[in-house]
Amino acid sequence: MSDHDFDLLKKEILDLEKRFDFNDKDSPSATLGFTPSKNFEKFPHRVKMLSLANAFNEDDLINFEKKIVNFLNLTKNFEFEYSAEPKIDGISASLTYKSGKLIRGLSRGNGEEGEDITLNLKTIPDIPHFIDQTDFPDDIDIRGEVFIQNNDFEKMKDSFANPRNAASGSLRQKDPKKTSNIPLKFIAYTFGFSSDQVIDKQSNFLVKLKKWGFKTSELNKKITGIKNLLSHHQIIEKKRFELNYDIDGIVYKINDFKLQKRLGFVTNAPRWAIAHKFSASNSVTEILNIDIQVGRTGALTPVAKVKPVNIGGVVVSNATLHNEEEILRKDIRIGDTVKIERAGDVIPHVVEVDLKKRKANSKKFIFPKKCPCGFETIKEFNKITKKFDAVRRCPDRGFDCDRMAKERLKHFVSKDAFNIEGLGKKVIEKFWSLGLIKFPYDIFNLDYDKISQLDGWGTRSVENLKKSIKKSEKVSLEKFIFSLGIRHIGQENAKLLSEFLRKKENFLNLKNQKYIQELINIDGIGDTQINSLKMFFNEKVNLSVILNLSRSLDIQGFKESNNSGKLKGQVFMFTGKLNNISRAEAKSLIESNGGKIVSNVTKKLDYLVIGEKPTTKKVDLAKKNKIKVINQKTLDEMLN
Ligand code: IVH
Repeated sequence: MSDHDFDLLKKEILDLEKRFDFNDKDSPSATLGFTPSKNFEKFPHRVKMLSLANAFNEDDLINFEKKIVNFLNLTKNFEFEYSAEPKIDGISASLTYKSGKLIRGLSRGNGEEGEDITLNLKTIPDIPHFIDQTDFPDDIDIRGEVFIQNNDFEKMKDSFANPRNAASGSLRQKDPKKTSNIPLKFIAYTFGFSSDQVIDKQSNFLVKLKKWGFKTSELNKKITGIKNLLSHHQIIEKKRFELNYDIDGIVYKINDFKLQKRLGFVTNAPRWAIAHKFSASNSVTEILNIDIQVGRTGALTPVAKVKPVNIGGVVVSNATLHNEEEILRKDIRIGDTVKIERAGDVIPHVVEVDLKKRKANSKKFIFPKKCPCGFETIKEFNKITKKFDAVRRCPDRGFDCDRMAKERLKHFVSKDAFNIEGLGKKVIEKFWSLGLIKFPYDIFNLDYDKISQLDGWGTRSVENLKKSIKKSEKVSLEKFIFSLGIRHIGQENAKLLSEFLRKKENFLNLKNQKYIQELINIDGIGDTQINSLKMFFNEKVNLSVILNLSRSLDIQGFKESNNSGKLKGQVFMFTGKLNNISRAEAKSLIESNGGKIVSNVTKKLDYLVIGEKPTTKKVDLAKKNKIKVINQKTLDEMLN
């Protein structure tokens, strides 16, 4: 029916309900025409669900292994054994079994907490509801991938762009009956929490999974050495299109669980695993226009709007052109026929122009010197490379550039930041254009009356939004710092800052620039971060944003994650080379035992650990300040 007819009907029911004082949450007035609620209850993952770093070629793999060798302080030509497993392009899920019974199934969510989709997962025949085997751990999270086979997807092609979307949509159905009609499959490959830790290797764990009744991939393989990983990759890449499900690469995991444990992880990805992606698929299409996108940190990125084209199951209508130089170098013009490449979840990009097909009326793109907001852009000078950046940036540091401001808001509500459900990118754009939000704190003072009058916003969706915003008001200092989107302060640095600063008050105090300089003592924070923080706090509007936010939010100070750690609260610093252990591993050991590392001798330092050839200046300064100077043996003893 036409929008007009729809509106008339809606008005009629609203009037009737008002007249008869009828109020029902399932009434069409509250449900019809509104996005259905997709609010599943959320639960924390007992062990974080990590993602994987990507490798695209041999060099990336060599680099990956080199880092591991250094971390473990091994000899250069050490050969690792890997568990090589196909990377299934589906949706990951975590299944909690207690005393053999499946009690809960969660989606990945943001890796820390997932949605309770137990009922939907239970409809999948590959997922056992009960496991009656003596060697099955009493309490364990089994993790794996939910996906749809290609032949099954053929039948539902009209409703979804690709099998992955179909699997995701089906898993998030409100009605499990609907999910049960979709032939979802499950392949298991790892665990999160486990009450038993008796298995020694990933490959043996995969064998157990099969024995316990889970499906595992028939392509899993134990492989030693990078050369063999590469040849295996080639074989599977060729076989890939014969498979009945999509895989977008191979995951290599260090097979030995003890080594995995030593290696640990950085922010969101383990040091001991990597996804080796298959080479990109490509296609030919035409550039309709070139747009400029402005990122959160002001970078101007040219984006080609292309005639929609299907590349390996995904419809592509945008492709990045990276920067001004790239457009000139490849001589890319509007109207050109171009080759576009896409690999896995990486943003598609333009590879080359087919000059033979260039039209007489193709148009050169003049890269603007101004940001769409009107500011003159700049190219920064890189002190290390002694060159000007290829990227043009909008110099705004506050919220004057509307493009940047919107991107900052999108970052603020994103999964790894405030994680506000129902407030996605499109909603941010809409609220922004209506003047409902400008600064992050506006999110916590929304005009819900106005919102409920908007097209597509019913009582229920407004209530859901209110609820998820309310829920996000309690936030850790680390997430708070990260969500501000300060340049060069990503998740890892936000964590370092929050560990050092501990309380929101100390973070707010950084408005006093002398405190910012002190942050140089944090191991991992350098001049780049310090300068960026100085710039951020120099801007009045940023100060008002954080002050306002700190009033409406409940910002939780840093919580000691390891209360029982032997080194709880103790601060360490290294100088000189350690024996048999890398600095990185020693650092990670101290941290996992509750200790902290700094990179300068300060009053807060408790122990200076000296290795071979220490810096005399540091040792002298420590002694002068009555800081305990210890050797590696003493540290070993402290760690037992
Ligand atoms: S291991 C610790 N193994 O890839 C590592 N993941 O980018 C993470 N995936 O979210 C999980 N096949 O959805 C692992 N054999 C496999 C996998 C696999 C597919 C997906 C999974 C994860 C993503 C990581």
